[in-house]
Amino acid sequence: MNNFTFYSPTHFSFGRGTEKKVPELITRFGGSRVLLVYGGGSIKKSGLYATITEGLKSNGIYYSELGGVKPNPRSGLVYEGVKICKRDRIDFILAVGGGSSIDTAKAIAMGAKYDGDFWDFFCGTPITDALPIGTVLTIAAAGSEGSGNTVITHETKKKKWGTGSDLLRPKFSVLNPEFTCTLPAYQTASGATDIIMHICERYFSNTADVEVTDRLCEALFLTMIKETPIAIKNPNNYEARANIMWAGMLAHNNVCGVGREQDWASHQIEHELSALYDVAHGAGLAVVAPAWMKYVMTKNTNKFLQFAVRVWGCQMDFEHPEKTIVEGIERFEKFLQSIGMPTTLSAIGANVRDIPKIVDNMKIANGGTTGCFVKLNRDDVTAILKLAN
Ligand code: NZQ
Ligand code: ZN
Repeated sequence: MNNFTFYSPTHFSFGRGTEKKVPELITRFGGSRVLLVYGGGSIKKSGLYATITEGLKSNGIYYSELGGVKPNPRSGLVYEGVKICKRDRIDFILAVGGGSSIDTAKAIAMGAKYDGDFWDFFCGTPITDALPIGTVLTIAAAGSEGSGNTVITHETKKKKWGTGSDLLRPKFSVLNPEFTCTLPAYQTASGATDIIMHICERYFSNTADVEVTDRLCEALFLTMIKETPIAIKNPNNYEARANIMWAGMLAHNNVCGVGREQDWASHQIEHELSALYDVAHGAGLAVVAPAWMKYVMTKNTNKFLQFAVRVWGCQMDFEHPEKTIVEGIERFEKFLQSIGMPTTLSAIGANVRDIPKIVDNMKIANGGTTGCFVKLNRDDVTAILKLAN
């Protein structure tokens, strides 16, 4: 196990009715002038918007609003949010929704404390200051409620890039699984795939002797494999929704990733798919991940055998271990298909002719590599995308 620091300062409030705590939490973490950031309307339908805004008003907390965040959040709304923060002397940002609203809030939080263009932080400028943020989560997926990361699509550059800092970790996150019961099956499945992939990016590591984090990863994999079909079949099953929601947080606040090298190649590749085709992030991952596995599986066979046997329940074939590996990947791919995820480029409207453009948009465009389990150059990424065709 490698040396590590683990810093996860977010206060989590989990369960039914916890959204009522928002005004008290904002005050506790020093907010008095709030920017409320949300998406396209799901929170208005569910009544969450009314609960939050009434709570702010009755507690005398000033707020400005920025609604309309779209999935795969764009730079335009971030610029708008930064302006509002500066104009209205905002001291706290509250994101209500999913990863897109939370990531927009994080990008605004950095931009509000900076005189230059917020996009600089996505191109390497170190993050030294940010407004505090809180979140009320309505979809189990991105894990942004517990992470220090944000991913934004630059509209004119058509690039979807990420950045991160502990300064971006939410001060608090409120998680009421009841609010995830209104999610359509496709969004539930996309979110579940993202959660599973946040575990994979950490699990597929060459670092040896990481038994505790491997076992934590496996507990989360098994939970997601059990609970996702239940939530899709019976959207109002509170217990399934609750287990998925907490798994989503644990999958990405890095409790499973400490002390080991992490991969992240599938995410880097997928981000450019969602930038170009506006596909849901989880659905893009369902296309990339099986192809990535097939391409790299021979490089560290032990880890893939462990995945096949411990996660997918395959019988170990001692004479032909490669058959066990392939069976594990097949079971994973079939699971994704069974929950309604696409697993080919064509299924998300992508075209093999676009592969050079996808690779050009990645941060490896000018040489360099992505991923750690196996370091991938342009040719490798091209080959993976062709396998996904
Ligand atoms: O906009 P509204 O109307 O709220 O609708 C949303 C949106 O259409 C809908 N939705 C959310 N909660 C709902 C609901 N519909 C019905 N009932 C509810 N309770 O779901 C759609 C997707 O919302 P979005 O916020 O985009 O989902 P998600 O949480 O999957 O976030 C995806 C974004 O997070 C980024 C992804 O790249 C993507 O841009 N990620 C962020 C990470 C991070 N910050 O750490 C890590 C991840 O790997 C990921 O890259
Ligand atoms: Zn993700």
